[in-house]
Amino acid sequence: MDGVDEVDGINGTEEIRILAIESSCDETAAAVVKDGREVLSNVIYSQIALHTEFGGVVPEIASRKHIEKMNQVVEQALAEAGTALGDITAVAVTYGPGLVGALLVGVSAAKAISFATGIPLVGVHHIEGHISANFIENKDLEPPFVCLVVSGGHSHLVVVKDYGEYEIIGRTRDDAAGEAFDKVARAIGLGYPGGPKIDRVSKEGNPDAIPFPRAKVAESVYDFSFSGLKSAVLNYLNSCEMKGETVNAADVAASFQKAVVDVLVDHSMEAVKEYGYDKFAIAGGVASNSALRGALEQACKENGIAFYHPSPIYCTDNAAMIGVAGYYEYKKGIRHGYDLNAVPNLKLGERL
Ligand code: KG4
Ligand code: ZN
Repeated sequence: MDGVDEVDGINGTEEIRILAIESSCDETAAAVVKDGREVLSNVIYSQIALHTEFGGVVPEIASRKHIEKMNQVVEQALAEAGTALGDITAVAVTYGPGLVGALLVGVSAAKAISFATGIPLVGVHHIEGHISANFIENKDLEPPFVCLVVSGGHSHLVVVKDYGEYEIIGRTRDDAAGEAFDKVARAIGLGYPGGPKIDRVSKEGNPDAIPFPRAKVAESVYDFSFSGLKSAVLNYLNSCEMKGETVNAADVAASFQKAVVDVLVDHSMEAVKEYGYDKFAIAGGVASNSALRGALEQACKENGIAFYHPSPIYCTDNAAMIGVAGYYEYKKGIRHGYDLNAVPNLKLGERL
């Protein structure tokens, strides 16, 4: 990483337009974000349909599709924003964590644009992007606050101390929340992607029908564990099959979802109260879950905590969130060189 001591080209009033690129998993995305909080365009090419027949993301196919779609989404993002490359202040790109082959496509595209134009390059952490999605629609939100990050690959409780400064206070010991949604959906025959399907089917089911476990991790009150819950669902399905009983998929989905939501809400509220913050935000694909949003809204209200959440389109993977995070990194003076590489297991708060 190349740091710059003085933030060049910023005089406090000059407009900052970030061209952002995201390709860490199965969405090829580009966006233009003005002054950190105004989304001028947000183009997402979702590969979901391509991966559905395989029951999950196939990394090789994802990379190939990113290569095919990348230039198109970047051009579309610039066109929809009414912005020429010459008006772009910096190019921000997700460089980790994620699928290495998928990340490399976005990183290479961003480096090429930066090299050809001289526009500064800023590498962004994917989870920092998810957290920053909260700044788009909540103009009043400023750190510090506590954020629950729940996506396909992560379940973290994070204290956002300042822009770009994080303390992870809770993490999953095994499966991420989204991963549990996807695996359970597959087991009850709903297919991929599981989260939105369980969300929808649960509305027809009884969340108290099956008493699935709410796992606690002995040594850390804020850590999560979802593998026991996933096994309990699989055991329940097996025992129904052995007894010749028909499974009510909606009841299983609703009861599983309730078990996940209860644990996420409990841990979150304990963390916000214990750390003494009055602001709480959610981020990541699972943050678009309607039951989770409803339960957190209620819990925050009861505890006198202000609740922030992005619209569902900014919860799942997108480049606008990378543009917001990229803006704050750029303002800090963070710059990357042409040796920027994809880092599949990049840690939150780590800058390489
Ligand atoms: O943040 P994201 O788009 O990608 C990662 O960074 O992982 O999250 C994707 C995850 C998937 O596991 C998906 O099933 C889950 O978010 N998800 C949901 C919902 N929408 C997406 N989970 C529960 N309810 C939803 N409505
Ligand atoms: Zn994500």
